[in-house]
Amino acid sequence: MSLHQQLIDRDRKVTFHASTHLRDFAHGDAPGRVITGGQGITIVDKDGREFIDGFAGLYCVNIGYGRSEVAEAIYEQAMKLSYYHTYVGHSNEPQIELSEKILELAGPGMSKVYYGMSGSDANETQLKIVRYYNNVLGRPQKKKVISRMRGYHGSGIASGSLTGLKAFHDHFDLPIETIRHTEAPYYYHRAAEQQGMTEREFSVYCAQKLEEMILAEGPETVAAFIGEPVLGTGGIVPPPEGYWKAIQAVLTKYDVLLIADEVVCGFGRIGTDFGSHHYGIKPDLITVAKGLTSAYQPLSGVIVGDRVWRVLEQGTGEFGPIGHGWTYSGHALGCAAGLANLAIIEREGLTQNAAETGAYLQRQMQAAFGDHPIVGNVRGVGLLAALEFSANPAKREHFDPALKIGPRIAAAAMDENLIARAMPQGDILGFAPPLTISRAEVDEVVARAKRAVDKVADELTRSGELKAS
Ligand SMILES: Cc1ncc(COP(=O)(O)O)c(C=O)c1O
Repeated sequence: MSLHQQLIDRDRKVTFHASTHLRDFAHGDAPGRVITGGQGITIVDKDGREFIDGFAGLYCVNIGYGRSEVAEAIYEQAMKLSYYHTYVGHSNEPQIELSEKILELAGPGMSKVYYGMSGSDANETQLKIVRYYNNVLGRPQKKKVISRMRGYHGSGIASGSLTGLKAFHDHFDLPIETIRHTEAPYYYHRAAEQQGMTEREFSVYCAQKLEEMILAEGPETVAAFIGEPVLGTGGIVPPPEGYWKAIQAVLTKYDVLLIADEVVCGFGRIGTDFGSHHYGIKPDLITVAKGLTSAYQPLSGVIVGDRVWRVLEQGTGEFGPIGHGWTYSGHALGCAAGLANLAIIEREGLTQNAAETGAYLQRQMQAAFGDHPIVGNVRGVGLLAALEFSANPAKREHFDPALKIGPRIAAAAMDENLIARAMPQGDILGFAPPLTISRAEVDEVVARAKRAVDKVADELTRSGELKAS
């Protein structure tokens, strides 16, 4: 038995894996893989097999793998000080410098940064801030938070409630009370009644649905709205034209805070420092993680805008120190990794590369799949892209979910040594490579993806599961 297989067998006995079919994995009926290294956009497993990582881990390794500069920054900080808590005003030098850098990138109107370890915990912090804010303002009934169907904001009790995907709610008794979900800005999935709408009209429709929900709940009970600039795990869906402007007008009208969840878009992914900059979003609060350290260390953050910060200060003036904090808030090694990571993004112009090579990726995807018989929608922005599969593209017909077309195509891509992610809801293949990717590498990603999609399309035709339209 190979060393790789021995490791996998040991793993099956002892590890509870994230997002995994637990029974099949534990009993050897689902595959495992041990990853041992990575360089650039490539990772390697214990057998020495190399894959192009077309999803940068979980869209987080923005600077690519094997950047020794970040490892050295972590090492140097660890030799000086690995950890001391940041409660009651204690700090460390990388935390101070990183907060300055994040605020500089975020732009005007943003005041302070609070640190956590994951996107999920950062969104828990967001919810606590929103509650505290309204309690300080003497509006204890203003507590509900509106998210979107297909939004993804984490998998804790509260952050998983914000998430608008079925698999994250079912059997966990979620969402919790006080969380609501409004229409997803998913033009391709618009219902038959919205069939004739332009993108702009659909955006107006989404804003109307939001307004109807706020009015039905009572504006005095709605505290905040949370959204990703581009829907991520829910399908990699850029918003329809005019969406954010229409949504923000409604939020302003009813004094509802806007939380931009920039966990995926933040730090360059779509060609701007933040997704909010691309779409003209003016958030009160921003959630960051992933690209903040390119996952070289776990680190997340909540960026608090001036308007909210003033109220937090007022609150502690009245009630004393804020009752919120994690042991690892502002961890010195995370902050050191963040600084080294952001320095690389800036020095190598990776945000610009995401804009330019990202535009190339979008063009190549369109060219390869625009007329493909099983591809209904090719979409994306910057270095975020998706293919949505359809049994009949002309009619926007979905495949029977039992056929598991998305996972089958992702498996076929793996056979081509390409990692692309089967998104959890729908037959959607996602791409989010490291921001270092070159045009030649984009060509390779698209060529491998094309072979994988063609292979499954052929199988479907031969088995009679795909009828010629
Ligand atoms: C937009 C968004 N928010 C929050 C999260 C949760 O982050 P984490 O998995 O680090 O808890 C994710 C994770 O993919 C995400 O995409």
